Amino acid sequence: MRTESILLTGGLGFIGSHTAVALKNHFKQIVIIDDLSNSVMNNYYRLKSLVGDCLILYKADIASQNVIDKIFLSHNIKAVIHYAGLKAVGESIIFPAKYYYKNVYSTKLLFEVLKKNKITNLIFSSSATVYGKPLYLAIDESHPVKAINPYGQNKIDIEQMIFNDPYFQEQCSVKILRYFNPIGAHPSGLIGDDPKGIPNNIMPIILKVATQEHQELKIFGNDYQTHDGTGIRDYIHIMDLVEGHVKALDYNKKGIIVFNLGTGKGFSVLDLINTFQEVNKVKIPYSFVERRSGDVDMVFANPDRAKTTLGFEALRSLQSMCFDAWNFVKKK
Ligand SMILES: NC(=O)c1ccc[n+]([C@@H]2O[C@H](COP(=O)([O-])OP(=O)(O)OC[C@H]3O[C@@H](n4cnc5c(N)ncnc54)[C@H](O)[C@@H]3O)[C@@H](O)[C@H]2O)c1
Repeated sequence: MRTESILLTGGLGFIGSHTAVALKNHFKQIVIIDDLSNSVMNNYYRLKSLVGDCLILYKADIASQNVIDKIFLSHNIKAVIHYAGLKAVGESIIFPAKYYYKNVYSTKLLFEVLKKNKITNLIFSSSATVYGKPLYLAIDESHPVKAINPYGQNKIDIEQMIFNDPYFQEQCSVKILRYFNPIGAHPSGLIGDDPKGIPNNIMPIILKVATQEHQELKIFGNDYQTHDGTGIRDYIHIMDLVEGHVKALDYNKKGIIVFNLGTGKGFSVLDLINTFQEVNKVKIPYSFVERRSGDVDMVFANPDRAKTTLGFEALRSLQSMCFDAWNFVKKK
C-alpha cells in the first residue's frame, strides 16, 4: 500500500489541477494548499470528482506558517511541486513589490519549511520568460537568462535561491521546469484554464471571444519577422506538460537540474486562431493593435534534455489543444 503523499502548492490552478489528476495513483494523498486567489471552490469539487478521496485541500496562503506546519505534521509528505504564485506579466509591471512578496518572499518561507521537513524531491514551476529576448533558437537550458519584466525576474530570483542553497545542491533532487506556453484542458472537460478576472494568456482570451463574452481578440503586432507577421510561440498541451511533471518526479537523481517543457515547434497567433476556428467551427473575430513592449518575434524550446534525460516528449497536436480547450468551456 502506498504510504507517501505529495504537496502541490497552488494545486487548484490550471497546471496544478491537471497534475493532481495525473498523480492520482502515484501517492496515498495529494495535498493541495491554495488560497483561491486565482481559482474557485468549484475547481476543487470538479477535481475531487476526478481524483477522489485522496485529494485534500487546505485553503490558505503558502506564507501561513501554521497551516504549512500542520500539513507536514498531518501527512507523510515526500515530494513537493511548487506552483503557487502570481503570473500576470502586465500586473507585475504595475505592482512589482506585490509580485516580489507573493512570489519570491513567500517561496523563501516555503523553502525553509521544506528543508526543516527534509523534503528531498522538489519541482519548481519556472517559465520560459526567464530567457528574455532569445539570443538564438531553439532555446536550450544553457541559454542565458535575462528578465524583461518583474514576473520573469521573480522566477530567476527563485531559481537562484535554489542554485545557491547547499541543501538543494547536496541533499535534494530539484527539478526546475521552464514551461513554454501550456494550453488545452483535460479531455473530460471538467478542468481547464479558468483564471479569475480578465485573462492574460491567449487561450483564455480566445475562449472568451468564442463565447462572445469578449467582442474580439486584440492581436499585439502584425509586423513581426514571422511567416504571417504575428508572434510565434511554443504551445504545449497541458496533458503533455503534466506528463513531464510525472517523469520529473520519478527522476530522483540528487542535485538541481533545469528542463524546458515545450514541443520544440512554433506556431503564430494566426496559426492558433485559424486552427481553433477550423477544429471547433467557431468564429474568432480579431483586430491588430500595437506591439507590447518586450514581446519578441519568435520563441520556441529545444526540448532535447527532457527527451534524453526523462524520456519525455510532448506529442499532442495544436488541433487537440484547441479542441480540448473549447470542450472545457462548452461543458462549464
Ligand atoms: N500557465 C502558464 O502559461 C505558465 C507558464 C509558465 C510558468 N507558469 C507558472 O506555473 C505556475 C502555475 O501556473 P498556473 O497557470 O497553474 O497558474 P494559476 O493561477 O492557474 O494557478 C496558481 C494557483 O496558485 C494559487 N495561489 C497563488 N498564490 C498563492 C499563495 N500565495 N498561496 C497559495 N496559493 C496561491 C492560485 O489561487 C491558483 O489556484 C505558476 O507559478 C506560474 O508562474 C505558468
